[in-house]
Amino acid sequence: MASAEVNGAVSHMTASAGQGTLASGAANRGVPVPESADRDALAPGAAVPESADWDALASGAAENREPILGAISHNPPMSGDRAGGASAEGEAAASAREAVADAVIRIEGLHKCYGAQEILKGIDLTVQRGEVVVILGPSGSGKSTLLRCVNRLEEATSGHIWFEDTEITDPSTKINKVREHVGMVFQSFNLFPHLTAKKNVMLAQEHVLKRPKEEAERVALEQLERVGLRERADYKPGQLSGGQQQRVAIARALAMDPHVMLFDEATSALDPELVRDVLDVMRSLASEGMTMMVVTHEMKFARDVADRVIFMDGGVIVEQGTPEDVFEHPQSDRTKDFLGHIA
Ligand SMILES: Nc1ncnc2c1ncn2[C@@H]1O[C@H](COP(=O)(O)OP(=O)(O)OP(=O)(O)O)[C@@H](O)[C@H]1O
Ligand SMILES: [Mg+2]
Repeated sequence: MASAEVNGAVSHMTASAGQGTLASGAANRGVPVPESADRDALAPGAAVPESADWDALASGAAENREPILGAISHNPPMSGDRAGGASAEGEAAASAREAVADAVIRIEGLHKCYGAQEILKGIDLTVQRGEVVVILGPSGSGKSTLLRCVNRLEEATSGHIWFEDTEITDPSTKINKVREHVGMVFQSFNLFPHLTAKKNVMLAQEHVLKRPKEEAERVALEQLERVGLRERADYKPGQLSGGQQQRVAIARALAMDPHVMLFDEATSALDPELVRDVLDVMRSLASEGMTMMVVTHEMKFARDVADRVIFMDGGVIVEQGTPEDVFEHPQSDRTKDFLGHIA
């Protein structure tokens, strides 16, 4: 079935948070959203099409207009020439193999076109395990498109993307299996408005990972604790602030034991006073060693937390390096101009 149809169904079932107005979404549109979140009521074939994308739905990936970010870490990026010209023998080759082995996301020669318009013009990027990669760039530079391609919410026009050993861009890859390990947090939270925070965090665990209810509940409470919301477990999204809803969305992603977390402007829809708590959660994830790709306009966060900062413009990576490299010694005029504008 066309993914658009699935995504359409999904987005009907999820609230469209926009500027923090999440609670008023799905149930008001005449869509048959069940009041109870139990397995049967939400089973494929009930309120959603048979091919409903449970991974996307339950992990919050339903909002396919949203981008995904990733994190990169301490090792040098592995781009198209990832072996760095090393021969099959010797230390260089061995270390290249090691780097590939520890890559969580590897992107080679990624192009994405919409019609005649080329949006991504050859992206090479590797995110190592434990890395926090922050992606910056002006509006329209392709940041969200890049993240969407990483999770195959958008199909690459050409090029290759791997998640660990699995080629995401191989049409035969079961993308839902991959998405089980890729946590996504978008600007809009896509929580089910009629379910409590705890139930929202349990849903994908039960439906996608097939965890027994008791285990899903235990994990949900652990993850809500992790984001500082244990005491709000029984609140529904409409009873939570935007920042709290976003933290529930993060807990939902974490409950799936992700190998990488992708954040696309996770704080952009929040009132300024609510941003800090969400960023604090992201900081603590980074300090715990979570591999993260983060698209953000929060420059302080980028400076403090990123292992690598990537500056994109016009569908290409213009420049990348440590936060100090990019912020203090930008090489490209485009980077300087961008940083000058946001300073
Ligand atoms: N489904 C689509 N069809 C056609 N064009 C699209 C589609 N999605 C994105 N684009 C175009 O691709 C370009 C890059 O969009 P993208 O959302 O990736 O930018 P971005 O860097 O995330 O910008 P922002 O900072 O505003 O979120 C834009 O010109 C946008 O209009
Ligand atoms: Mg974007």
